[in-house]
Amino acid sequence: MLTVALPKGELLKNSIRLLQTVGLDFSAFLDSGNRQLQITDASGQAKGLLVRGQDVPVYVEYGQAQFGIIGYDVIREKKPQVAHLVDLQFGYCRMSVAVKASSPYKLPVDLPPHSRVASKYVNCANEYFDSLDLPVEIVPLYGSVELGPITGMSEAIVDIVSTGRTLKDNGLVEITTLYESTARLIAHPLSYRLNTGNLYNLVERLREAVLTPA
Ligand code: PRP
Repeated sequence: MLTVALPKGELLKNSIRLLQTVGLDFSAFLDSGNRQLQITDASGQAKGLLVRGQDVPVYVEYGQAQFGIIGYDVIREKKPQVAHLVDLQFGYCRMSVAVKASSPYKLPVDLPPHSRVASKYVNCANEYFDSLDLPVEIVPLYGSVELGPITGMSEAIVDIVSTGRTLKDNGLVEITTLYESTARLIAHPLSYRLNTGNLYNLVERLREAVLTPA
């Protein structure tokens, strides 16, 4: 039986909807009364694991899940050893550098050397500022990154922007975009190559469902 790792949060609803189009029903994960982290789909064809987005590639790399759904942002940050199969075209967001609206820095290169930049995406932030040849101190945070500039702890942040509401409500503005992100279908490379549990066929049905939405 195939196992899929599904991300908690923003991508969960659309992930479950997509799997429903190929006959896999994990809607029990959306039931707020349900605390089960592993369920078998209603048709008995596959198992689902409900995990933090950042942990999806871990389960897929170790082969406990033969496939999974994650944001491209997680792929960029963690660089997991997985097969990247389909752009699922939902969960759009972008990785941006933002500062206080009142900041004198209008571009990342305006930031003084050794400025502090708060981020949950330490690798993406480091890579970006390395590419500018601008030495900065990345301050790793787990959430509410916008508080960095608000409290004066950091001059800037590198974070996900979706609707832009969080930045706006906290008086911050984007000064550049590093990349855009959408949800991606990933698989355990060997399982995909060996077509474990007819994974190849399932992936093709998912690809088709994305290309021809109902
Ligand atoms: C993410 C991100 C921003 C927010 C952006 O945070 O880190 O804070 O969403 O979304 P918006 O542009 O639609 O406002 P998340 O909701 O994951 O919470 P966190 O800060 O606790 O990680």
